[in-house]
Amino acid sequence: MIAVIGGTGDLGRGLVARWVLAGEEVVIGSRQREKAERVASELSGQLGKPVRGTTNLEAAREAEVIVLSVPFEGLRQIMDEVKPALTPQKLLLSVIVPLKVEGGAVSFECPPAESAAEEVAKLVPRGVRVLSAFHTVGARQLQRVEKPLDCDVVVCGDDAEAKREAMQLIERIAKVRAIDGGPLRNSRLTEPVAALLVELTRRHRVPGVGVKFFGL
Ligand SMILES: NC(=O)c1ccc[n+]([C@@H]2O[C@H](COP(=O)([O-])OP(=O)(O)OC[C@H]3O[C@@H](n4cnc5c(N)ncnc54)[C@H](OP(=O)(O)O)[C@@H]3O)[C@@H](O)[C@H]2O)c1
Repeated sequence: MIAVIGGTGDLGRGLVARWVLAGEEVVIGSRQREKAERVASELSGQLGKPVRGTTNLEAAREAEVIVLSVPFEGLRQIMDEVKPALTPQKLLLSVIVPLKVEGGAVSFECPPAESAAEEVAKLVPRGVRVLSAFHTVGARQLQRVEKPLDCDVVVCGDDAEAKREAMQLIERIAKVRAIDGGPLRNSRLTEPVAALLVELTRRHRVPGVGVKFFGL
């Protein structure tokens, strides 16, 4: 079972939709149960498949894989909320990017640990396996489920087995290739790519852009 914390948001909805269509069991987490239930019901209608929604904590309790899909500013609050559910061996996948949009300009706001994923790692109980991914694909592209994604997703993390599990799960999404991006600290390299995608999407007025690497 996968829990998408912040699954009511742009990127989260796209991830939920793609995994549900791939046959995975997914639960949406929200700070408000009613909001999660509403979005789950909308997605369920759109996809013709069952989707559930509940609180962030309950979603995290139920799942073995927990995706953190919230703005960086909300990270501490969300970690406090889900911490009781973070038992050893759970897999915590951060898609978070510390972005700042000011006067129409997008920038990567480097946090003290140098990446959001490393900030997450500082906040989790011992034994929880932290990874990062999905910095190379835009939310709008994920949400356009009628189109195969046809993109690469770079996965960073320090636990080799956790990374293998996450890469398998990511490749359940049709036409997505998961690439081992090395240790968690390499999230410092992948997270700013999302800022570039946001800027290119805005500048070229397209419904989202994504990355496909040559030579790998
Ligand atoms: N959009 C993209 O193309 C893209 C690409 C790569 C990575 N990312 C990163 O992925 C993450 C999610 O992006 P998004 O565009 O889906 O974000 P979003 O729509 O702004 O927010 C996602 C969800 O997070 C919860 N949330 C909002 N503000 C919060 C706060 N202050 N504290 C705690 N929870 C809060 C909300 O859920 P509830 O109200 O239901 O709790 C919201 O629906 C971000 O860190 C973003 O930088 C985005």
